[in-house]
Amino acid sequence: MPTPPVPNDERARRKAVVEDLLKLGYHPQGQRGGLASATKTAERREGINYPRWVRDEEAQRDKGKPHYAVDWSLYIPPAPAATVTRGAEEAGEELSAEDHAHKRAVVLSTEVTNLITSSNYPVINPDAILIDSYLVRRYDRSVGGYVIKEGTPRTWMTDTLRVAPITNPRNQNFIFTGAQNDAPIHEEFWANLLAYADFLNAKIVVGPWTYETQWWAENNPTARAYATELSPYLCFGQMKIGDNFVFCGEMNTLPTASQPISDLVTYSRGRWAVFPHAKRQLKSVPSTDPNVQAHQVMTSGAVTRPKVIPRKAGVKSIFHQVVGATVVQFDDEGDVFCRQISASDDGSFYDLDARVANGEVTTSHRVRAITFADIHVRKLDPANTMATFGWDMRGNVAKYRNSVVDVLNPEHMIYHDIFDNEPGNHHHVGDNAYSYEMAIRGRDSLECEVLQCGDFLLRTLGEDRLGIVAEGNHDLALEKYAREGRYRNHGINVRFGLQLEDAYLGHVEARSHAIDNDLPVPRFSLLEYAIRQKYPQLGDKIEWCHDGYSRLIDGIEVGNHGFRGANGAKGTVNGFAKMGRKMTIGDKHSPEINEGVYVSGAMNLRHGYNKGPSGWAVSHVIQYADGKRALITLQKGKWRPEKPVIRMPAPSLAA
Ligand SMILES: [Fe+2]
Ligand SMILES: [Fe+2]
Repeated sequence: MPTPPVPNDERARRKAVVEDLLKLGYHPQGQRGGLASATKTAERREGINYPRWVRDEEAQRDKGKPHYAVDWSLYIPPAPAATVTRGAEEAGEELSAEDHAHKRAVVLSTEVTNLITSSNYPVINPDAILIDSYLVRRYDRSVGGYVIKEGTPRTWMTDTLRVAPITNPRNQNFIFTGAQNDAPIHEEFWANLLAYADFLNAKIVVGPWTYETQWWAENNPTARAYATELSPYLCFGQMKIGDNFVFCGEMNTLPTASQPISDLVTYSRGRWAVFPHAKRQLKSVPSTDPNVQAHQVMTSGAVTRPKVIPRKAGVKSIFHQVVGATVVQFDDEGDVFCRQISASDDGSFYDLDARVANGEVTTSHRVRAITFADIHVRKLDPANTMATFGWDMRGNVAKYRNSVVDVLNPEHMIYHDIFDNEPGNHHHVGDNAYSYEMAIRGRDSLECEVLQCGDFLLRTLGEDRLGIVAEGNHDLALEKYAREGRYRNHGINVRFGLQLEDAYLGHVEARSHAIDNDLPVPRFSLLEYAIRQKYPQLGDKIEWCHDGYSRLIDGIEVGNHGFRGANGAKGTVNGFAKMGRKMTIGDKHSPEINEGVYVSGAMNLRHGYNKGPSGWAVSHVIQYADGKRALITLQKGKWRPEKPVIRMPAPSLAA
């Protein structure tokens, strides 16, 4: 017997039932992603084979007959949320446990989804979090056997959590910091940070982490509790900014990690990156293209105060946790400029010439010191010299207004490796072609290089600032050259070499006399001697920190070049880090921050001998009046997102 035709009013009703479900977020037939299938749900509720009825109506429509085909376009997908799975289908008693497990997973999914999607930077793929309804098997004495009970939902991740990328970062400013769950916010610092963000027109982004719990924990009421003032700024996902920068809000690193980014240098895949973490660490990641400056990965600092358990890892971490942030600015060419902000106990901080205290920003503050990128006068890059010192090595005609020195007006300027020993470099002993190259380029005179160094120091002098030469291995190379008598047969350098050796032997005499008579051993540098002979006017405006000696500024060691480590070992950043002393060193040419050791870069990325992938960068270390430090890195002859203003005098004056 054929099936009786469905009356038209019933067909209209069924169409309305399915379409209502579509509007509620149930997905169309043949799709996924909604709350459940609209037709299957209708079928379950009414016992009518809706999927088949829908196909019948669509067949009528396709034949051009009157029909009640469902309009699938009415489907409104639900907002994405953490995905909830169901446990295994069980029968009888177990089904009830499964339903409870499912309910717990749904509640957790809602809480987690709310947490990660309610800020200014909502996670766009919360469905990448998978919450499994979890069942456990327990022995039950009363029945003398095992029963299935609902358990704590299990949370997994199937993809990196992401927030909406910022595709065009030009002229945008950001301040990245971090926060721990259930930890007190540093209120004064936070107020200052808000004031500074306003001043810079910057977005504040807070990367969260959890300690002793997880933000996906079911039963810990503090797991998702962050200071309420931070709620709009929390960023639980990765934020890509332009092609060259990423903020990794998804990383959730323990605040007690002692090397928070050491294993993350490749994570950003060639981009600059900031990771939320309270301990300061920065690494330069080599670029394979010698024309592209290495990129840096770094931690953010924290806006919450330390709150850890009283065990070694926790106790130790308090010493390293920094209340601070990282400023990231993009200029109108999209180049990135990152700087560390570290707060004093009262929450005040410096950034460049600005000081922020009591919620107010003031500018034109002097910095205490700048340790410049290794100078190597012979190899100075003109654009970087202009941006840093404000004058042109090639003739002193043009001036760069608002150079680093102009704006930051340092009280101390520290120079590493001012000399390069280009003509007498020991790497090129016996290298005929190199000697020839020096000769045809007019660069074969050591005396001339000494004069250039003196000229450089003279140009940097200022009435109210002190220059400090932290003697480096390249500076010492002059002494080695003279002592080894390499000036013999070295063309133009023979007489100058003789004079140097004589001067050095004079020091040897004085030193021998002192040793034999128990007198203090005199300090001596052959480079200093040679420069001062030619530039006596340097006087006490330039101070020499001789190799092996110490020079402190506000308790921070700035006189160690970094090539000599403890007990005769080679100087390495890790080695210095283990000494537990705040230091700012040069020598490495690759900027780095590790355990209170700040490393500057080099003024020129190309020295001829450095080939292949390079972590070198043009980075200076700034030391503020409160003893906090920051690394600034030049990009294409710019040191901050401001157009360089080059002043050229009229031709008559320039002559
Ligand atoms: Fe150097
Ligand atoms: Fe060096």
